[in-house]
Amino acid sequence: MKDFVVTPWEVKGEVDYEKLIKEFGISPLTQELLERIKKHTKELHPFLERKIFFAHRDLDWILDMYEKGEKFYLYTGRGPSGEMHLGHLLPFIFTKWLQDKFDAKVYIQITDDEKFLFKNLTLEQTKKFGYSNALDIIALGFDKKKTFIFLDTEYSKTLYEQAIKVAKHLTFSTVKATFGFTNETNVGAIFFTSVQAVPAFLESVKEGRNVPCLVPLGVDQDPHFRLARDVLPKLGFYKPAVIHSKFFPSLLGKNAKMSASEPNSAIFTTDSEEDVDRKIKNAFTGGATTIKEQKEKGGNPEVCSVYSYYYFLFGKDEKELKQIYEDCKSGKRLCGECKQILAERIKKFLKEHQRKREEAKKEIDKFLIKD
Ligand code: TRP
Repeated sequence: MKDFVVTPWEVKGEVDYEKLIKEFGISPLTQELLERIKKHTKELHPFLERKIFFAHRDLDWILDMYEKGEKFYLYTGRGPSGEMHLGHLLPFIFTKWLQDKFDAKVYIQITDDEKFLFKNLTLEQTKKFGYSNALDIIALGFDKKKTFIFLDTEYSKTLYEQAIKVAKHLTFSTVKATFGFTNETNVGAIFFTSVQAVPAFLESVKEGRNVPCLVPLGVDQDPHFRLARDVLPKLGFYKPAVIHSKFFPSLLGKNAKMSASEPNSAIFTTDSEEDVDRKIKNAFTGGATTIKEQKEKGGNPEVCSVYSYYYFLFGKDEKELKQIYEDCKSGKRLCGECKQILAERIKKFLKEHQRKREEAKKEIDKFLIKD
């Protein structure tokens, strides 16, 4: 029985990542691959160590090419439907790490067109969010000489000329089957995957030779690239390789949705200290109903959203994480204290992030490409 849904436009229920690997036909990130990455990067990012990035397509091929001296570039993106929360930062934090370790160029697509087509938002709104989101992305420290950020509607001449080449190889019945579209779906939405495919070969067009491309993304975006991988060889390009991340957990428990429409479910990059305190105080935990009971029986970190925040972003290292886990299970670490420590770490992170976000306003023109 399937009790979760993962599509680029909807994520629902408690995701079983093992099942998803089979369903999507993607490959698990094996220990062997991690060792291969480590040979080049010297250390493993905690996202790899903790299997937060957990699956891939053709990552072994990317490493083969790299080892033969063919460098790859990186491509990821953001759908600007609102301000960004901590979960939205994951692929960007990881992409920036890959940029540093492999000295790679990065393309970042901000799909103001997509969110206009799929959501009840005006183009003015999605553009405004797009610019605001670009600040969060820049704040993460990308190299301005090697990072190219664009809003689709402001880079449309370049994109359109390539998107139609993809579109010519995609039929309505294929996108219908892949995304569950119906006859009522607007034609912009039907076309859209062609636009998202373009940056996966744009560097090859610009360079006039094939350049391997690696796409870090949240696993919900995989279907776009499944299609891109079918079409691109027909246009004479390499298939993009992909590395997939799990979803950042909601503060309201594993099944709860994390979105702008449910502001208490997530910490947004623009949140104040009071917001953080309130949200963490109200977060869903694996604690018992009374302190007495918890001291006796312990808590359950497996279901705890506070623990998962440590696991995804705020644990210092593997040793500390293990300690938190064990102290929770044994009843030694209680929720009040655990929440307080987490809230302090988040506030510290946000303070720094918001400062860099402010600085990014002066830098944004160095990152944005338009035509
Ligand atoms: N469609 C993505 C979203 O809604 C944004 C996006 C565009 C993207 N290109 C991408 C995400 C490439 C990952 C990789 O968030």
